[in-house]
Amino acid sequence: MTSLVLGQPLRGAPAERSRLDGTEAPFVSVGHPGAADLVVVANRLPLCRPSSPSNGRRSIDAVPTGWEISPGGLVGALAPVLAARGGAWVGWPGTTGLTLPFSHAHMALHPVALTPLEHERYYEGFSNRTLWPLYHDAIRAPELDLDWWNAYVSVNERFAAAAAEVAAPGAAVWVHDYQLQLVPALLRRLRSDVKIGFFLHIPFPSPELFAGLPWRRQVIVGLLGADLVGFQVPNDAANFVRSARALARVDVCSRRLRFDGRAVDIGAFPISIDVEKVERAASSDQTVRRAAAIRDELGAPRHVLLGVDRLDYTKGIVARLEAFRDLLRAGVLSVSDHVMVQVAVPSREGLVQYCAERERIERLVDEINGENAPMGRPAVHYLHRSLPFDELIALYRAADVMLVTPLRDGMNLVAKEYVASRIDGSGVLVLSTFAGSARELHAARLVDPHDGDDLRTAIVDAVSMPVDEARRRMARLRSTVRSSTVHQWADRFLSALDHASLPVLSGA
Ligand code: F6P
Repeated sequence: MTSLVLGQPLRGAPAERSRLDGTEAPFVSVGHPGAADLVVVANRLPLCRPSSPSNGRRSIDAVPTGWEISPGGLVGALAPVLAARGGAWVGWPGTTGLTLPFSHAHMALHPVALTPLEHERYYEGFSNRTLWPLYHDAIRAPELDLDWWNAYVSVNERFAAAAAEVAAPGAAVWVHDYQLQLVPALLRRLRSDVKIGFFLHIPFPSPELFAGLPWRRQVIVGLLGADLVGFQVPNDAANFVRSARALARVDVCSRRLRFDGRAVDIGAFPISIDVEKVERAASSDQTVRRAAAIRDELGAPRHVLLGVDRLDYTKGIVARLEAFRDLLRAGVLSVSDHVMVQVAVPSREGLVQYCAERERIERLVDEINGENAPMGRPAVHYLHRSLPFDELIALYRAADVMLVTPLRDGMNLVAKEYVASRIDGSGVLVLSTFAGSARELHAARLVDPHDGDDLRTAIVDAVSMPVDEARRRMARLRSTVRSSTVHQWADRFLSALDHASLPVLSGA
């Protein structure tokens, strides 16, 4: 691997200093090197397009016009902790054109620019054509390419260098997700004084699948550079431990591994949502009115069925639509009584697999509407866009049945958002057993999305579920979701990181 010298450009990579627009950018020096007590390192900076026009005003200091801090759950959970601890966030700024650090709400944001070639090889290639399918049960064949791997290594080095520069002595550095699995070990080489945590948001594959990755040992060693490696569910943690044992000869003692003379703690930390924020939005008069209006706009059917997903082949959107189509064809459901809304948020549109998935979905929507829908009254309402938060919550409130049917998913927060928004205790959640959230949301109507029969039966069960049973299940679901918020998730992880490397007391 290329070695790094802090404060110097990366060796042999003049192109890596270019911005996304192709112009040369100077080496980015951070405003206050070594000042952050908590550093979050994630592929993306938490920036997004504003959901409402800004009237030309800049709502956030130093954030370029047309962009704002993302309102997502992760940033919502981490921003207060970052602000309190003098924290920083290191990440790719996407197409914002940002290259210099800036601060917002007492949190420093440090862009790591990618060249177009790195974007193609590190992000689209190794992250999303190799690792993403491999870690999702190889639902699509993972593609292997040495140039993609090399780009993954050098971009991970750049993220590690940026984190090393901004972290204060003894800081906690929290690295996120599959795009950055080498960062823990790279960072440890640069800064042995910092505590390093890593959290994987997606599943970790079985050793049998992982063995298909030629660079599997490097990935394991990269992750073992952390003091704490966290996963969504215990099975992911167990998969990791089995591969670490086989590939890096770690010693295993309960939830602690020994590697290279150090301890590495392993744990499951199921992520959640900002329950209070969802409940507040769901109970507003405006949302209640909007939910009623949505039902009217849909033709006031007896049952509204809803799917909300990033447009990704892992989400099982095709299987869900096929099940709905088959039930309409068989006359088990009818277009007068049953209307489906499918929100598919555009994602990774540069990748052929995602374009193909979009075509399959849109063909199915056309087929279902062509076969069944009366004029002006679609059977499936298809929204290929992201929705503002309030509109999404109104849609959850308008839906009698929520269909969350991924073929494999690390957690799936849509399932938890739906439950949190059902403040009147009604609604039925159909949930794939292949989603991490199924481990907690036992009271959902669990379903195997790979089994068309089971999927069709689950939909029929959901629309015909007796009210008492639906309410009983929803009450259990709501108590589960309310008992664990994204804030508690962040606290649990950071406190485990604080305690990592400390000797485990007997009986603990
Ligand atoms: O769930 C994994 C994840 O990478 C998330 O971190 C992210 O929000 C989502 O997928 C979208 O991915 P991308 O950053 O590739 O658009």
